[in-house]
Amino acid sequence: MGRVDRKEVLAKALEGVDREHDMIYEILNKIQYSHTNHLSAGLRKSLIKELYLFLDFHFTSEENLLVMFDCPDCELHKKEHDVLRHKLAELIGSLDVEDFDYGDLEEFVTEWLKSHTRHSDARLSQFIEIQCRHELGKES
Ligand SMILES: [Fe+2]
Ligand SMILES: [Fe+2]
Repeated sequence: MGRVDRKEVLAKALEGVDREHDMIYEILNKIQYSHTNHLSAGLRKSLIKELYLFLDFHFTSEENLLVMFDCPDCELHKKEHDVLRHKLAELIGSLDVEDFDYGDLEEFVTEWLKSHTRHSDARLSQFIEIQCRHELGKES
């Protein structure tokens, strides 16, 4: 493997964040499908676990970028991630409850993500784009 430069890491990071956001919505679609089709409780519980694990991965990945590129509002962004991490951990803790409302979970996560990606993640992407352009400017 050759030497990786800053521009390459920045460009791939931007692609990665977008791809991971799409993945989160794919998992939410599977949760909705399993809910509306009354699939087994075990599967639904496992899908919620998949959502939690993927979100934790995605948040950790974004947090590493925030630190790696010295992005502004790093601590605030991390705090927002922690809010969802804790909320999901609480919900997963109550998954054995017979009347657990998957619809509520889906609605909560979807609304949270919409707001977070529109503001905090958009700022992160914008910052990375500016850094990319800066790196390209150095080459010309
Ligand atoms: Fe984020
Ligand atoms: Fe994100």
